[in-house]
Amino acid sequence: MKVLVVFDSVFGNTQKVAAAIGEGIGVHTEVEVCEAGTFSQEKLQGLGFLIVGSPTRGFRPTPLIVNLLKNLPENSLQGIKVAAFDTRILLSDIKSAPLRFIVKTGGYAAKPISKMLTEKGGKLILPPEGFFVADEQGPLKDGEPERAAGWITAPLLGSDF
Ligand SMILES: Cc1cc2nc3c(=O)[nH]c(=O)nc-3n(C[C@H](O)[C@H](O)[C@H](O)COP(=O)(O)O)c2cc1C
Repeated sequence: MKVLVVFDSVFGNTQKVAAAIGEGIGVHTEVEVCEAGTFSQEKLQGLGFLIVGSPTRGFRPTPLIVNLLKNLPENSLQGIKVAAFDTRILLSDIKSAPLRFIVKTGGYAAKPISKMLTEKGGKLILPPEGFFVADEQGPLKDGEPERAAGWITAPLLGSDF
């Protein structure tokens, strides 16, 4: 099974998570990790599984990721497994209680990404997942690259790899 991980990243943390996910999957099957800016729709040809990730910025994915997904033709993800991840700040690391409430209520990028992926016909095989940064510009919290590498397991990839 061919797998594609598409990501956007401002400070490099989501890129590290995408790379770790790719390394984890690469043990089992063919995988390409691609920056959103270099994505083209030809990459969907023969694809079995599409994973999309973004930093959470203002509760949402970056405009690049939103536009990439909006521009996918209707039903272009039909027959393709999909999953979404984001990077975000752990709620308990936000000291201000009002800000913590706002961030919690606002939500995170992986959920709208998952929704857009399924709206284009993709089959969501995992709940939206978040990976944690220690501060606005990073670094990733301890253990997150390892968690990312193990996020997609062999059974999720299916038996045809
Ligand atoms: C303008 C801005 C808005 C942000 N909004 C959120 C947010 O709504 N929720 C959250 O958990 N983190 C938020 N963050 C922290 C980002 O999630 C963090 O910068 C990101 O995970 C880093 O990933 P990157 O290095 O790939 O850009 C925000 C950061 C910036 C700079």
